[in-house]
Amino acid sequence: MLKRLIIASAIVIAIPAASWAGIGDIRLESKIASMKKAGVGPVVFPHDRHEKSIKCAECHPKIFKDKRGANDISMKFNMEGKFCGSPNCHNSPRTFPLYQCASCHTGVGAAK
Ligand code: HEC
Ligand code: HEC
Repeated sequence: MLKRLIIASAIVIAIPAASWAGIGDIRLESKIASMKKAGVGPVVFPHDRHEKSIKCAECHPKIFKDKRGANDISMKFNMEGKFCGSPNCHNSPRTFPLYQCASCHTGVGAAK
């Protein structure tokens, strides 16, 4: 893991600052069937916005593996204080709370 982090940092440093555009949005929809039942749509995670205000190491690898689809994120885990609901994240005064479904899920309140 440490070795991977060092390699990842080396890559980031090797890219000239001007061309580092960040990772952009990541669609999280592994649990799409349950989301549909609950009347919410996929989560669009704005990776770039999080990169701007939070250090990579605050999330990787402690809270999220830095590989798309490698984290089994669910609302149960979020509410237990893991992943998005980790202390100091969407479970704290630092930012909006977990009950604001529409701030993370698309299609909230949309016709099914
Ligand atoms: C707020 C937490 C957070 C921060 C800060 C953060 N990331 Fe991520 N990152 C994530 C999440 C969540 C994913 C998606 C994981 C998934 O799909 O299961 C991700 C995915 C990734 C991926 C995989 C992308 C892909 O297309 O497979 C890489 C690489 C990555 N992050 C690197 C970084 C780097 C470098 C930084 C700092 C510049 C950073 N992350 C900052 C949460 C974060
Ligand atoms: C901080 C962001 C965030 C908020 C706020 C949020 N969710 Fe989620 N939710 C997620 C993520 C991330 C997943 C997992 C996505 C995936 O990989 O499928 C998820 C998954 C789900 C799922 C799939 C089944 C499950 O149990 O995990 C349902 C249903 C769901 N959310 C409903 C809600 C409802 C209802 C609310 C409001 C009360 C809400 N979510 C608020 C981020 C959020």
